[in-house]
Amino acid sequence: MARKRLACRVGVLTGGGDCPGLNAVIRAVCKTLMHEERAEIVGFLDGYEGLVEDRTVPLDWASVSNILTLGGTILGTSNTGDPFRWAEKRGGKVVITDRSRDALRTFKKHRLDGLVVIGGDGSMFIAGQLLDRGVPIVGVPKTIDNDVRGTELTFGFQSAVNVATDALDRLHTTASSHHRVMIAEVMGRYAGWLALHSGIAGGADVILIPEIPFRWEPIFRVFEQRAAKGKRFSIICVAEGARPAGGQMVVQRTVEGSPDPIRLGGIGRFVADTVEKRTGLEARATTLGYVQRGGTPCPFDRVFATSLGYAAARLAAEGRWGRMASWQKGRLTDVAIKDVAGGCRKVAPDEPLLAVARAVGTSFGE
Ligand code: F6P
Repeated sequence: MARKRLACRVGVLTGGGDCPGLNAVIRAVCKTLMHEERAEIVGFLDGYEGLVEDRTVPLDWASVSNILTLGGTILGTSNTGDPFRWAEKRGGKVVITDRSRDALRTFKKHRLDGLVVIGGDGSMFIAGQLLDRGVPIVGVPKTIDNDVRGTELTFGFQSAVNVATDALDRLHTTASSHHRVMIAEVMGRYAGWLALHSGIAGGADVILIPEIPFRWEPIFRVFEQRAAKGKRFSIICVAEGARPAGGQMVVQRTVEGSPDPIRLGGIGRFVADTVEKRTGLEARATTLGYVQRGGTPCPFDRVFATSLGYAAARLAAEGRWGRMASWQKGRLTDVAIKDVAGGCRKVAPDEPLLAVARAVGTSFGE
């Protein structure tokens, strides 16, 4: 019997920092395309690095089975490996070169109809540049930071909110026992979504986010007001990108060859030290770090990642390249990757959750 024509060959890669739900997306993209389009799927290893260096793995039913609940990514990822700004150590120095031609060569070699890029704003920015060079791409918005433009939600975010909320709950009991100010530093880069959601969910007394530079006095006033009501402890949820008015974000390190080389971290410690120095209260800082990115996706993210993966597969099957699956006004939709690339989505001054938090007495240090 003559073999039925294969409808398409599609490449898949996961780029940028990992987050819960990546495997659920890979699974949904592959299963949908294999089932509905009889597609062959090629997985690129370690994000765009695999595309530049031609490191691949075939993805079939067996390889995407039983990965729905698995954290991380079976393909590996990298938040360096930008084909257009490839960083390499030569003689102790980091040299940046353009290796986009290698990426194009690999793409052609595998006779692919297109590529599914699962990544955040950095990955979408690179995807936009590859689109300009003629590589058909559909995108899936990923990140615990929830800061990708063109979508109101990214998968991985809710799982990270769960982790951060659980940490705040735990900090509450130890804070109240010791009558301390407990500070939890959460990730989120230049956006305060993670701090805002987990801060509200965890009942933080103060939430500090990058979008609202804070002042010390209003924060100290919260402690006083709480003490006057017999509450001798307070909880602060601070985003890693938060900064005092007139001050700078705390940069922990820079990473050459990353779409955004800045790595934040340390504001929690700074807030704790300042609180102790200026109020005499005992303060402790806890940095949640990478536990927010690891582990199994929460049920919401399993459903959401599967839905986004399905949506991306449909875009690819319909040849609607250049689009990113997105979530807007409670529905799955899609946007142009070009409109997403080159910036992040921040908490706007009229974000309804800010009003909600203020109404229940949460301070933003304003
Ligand atoms: O974008 C996800 C994220 O975890 C940010 O919240 C954080 O600032 C950054 O990645 C850390 O990156 P890296 O994995 O390079 O340390």
